[in-house]
Amino acid sequence: MDWLEEFTVEAQRRQVRPEPEWDRGARLDPAVARSVQRFQVGESGDGANLLAKADGRYQEAVALFVAEEQNHARLLARLLEASGTTTIDAHWSDAVFVQLRRALGLRLELMVLLIAEVVALRYYRALRDGVDDPLTREVAARILADEERHVPFHCDRLHGEFGGPTGKAVAFGWRVLLAGALAVVLLDHGSALRKLGLTRIAFAAGVLERFERVLVDVHCGRNGPARVRPWPRRARPRGLV
Ligand SMILES: [Fe+2]
Ligand SMILES: [Fe+2]
Repeated sequence: MDWLEEFTVEAQRRQVRPEPEWDRGARLDPAVARSVQRFQVGESGDGANLLAKADGRYQEAVALFVAEEQNHARLLARLLEASGTTTIDAHWSDAVFVQLRRALGLRLELMVLLIAEVVALRYYRALRDGVDDPLTREVAARILADEERHVPFHCDRLHGEFGGPTGKAVAFGWRVLLAGALAVVLLDHGSALRKLGLTRIAFAAGVLERFERVLVDVHCGRNGPARVRPWPRRARPRGLV
């Protein structure tokens, strides 16, 4: 998969795509609005830390990936505005997430990021399917389509990095990290999820199921030959842990 080309085509498509019909307004349940506010903060990073650890074609692809995340922040801000809700400047869970990623090398940062992406996948699907409001459904569907691409993008970069016994230890630690992050999300967004027609258990089960597929795609904790690296050696990012 040529990710740079993939993100470039998507960026061009986005430029000519009409905006959602913001003027029609949105109806958001207060619990869902609070939950969307927090996701909006999470989407709004500048990606500088990740960009600094990448180079070559990979860095160019990362820049386009960051632009997609910033577009998600913009779409969610417009959705909140359309529903008469303000955005928030910060949330403690995002601050912890950003500090954690900043302290890590590229591989660990991508592992943390993948947890957020897998949670986001299930969240935006729940938002799209759990409301009647057309504008909210439209925004959630657009973001979801991008997030579907982000997970394999990061998986490709990590593929083959953790093989054999080391991989098994990494997979264990990764699952522990996911469990911690998931517990925070369930505490923080449980009432919104209920409004979207999803129990905490159903949400967690969806995230865990998708995460196990990430482990398979990364080839983490598994023996056997890894496929050819998608990124050429010269384009591999600096700062590996
Ligand atoms: Fe996003
Ligand atoms: Fe994403």
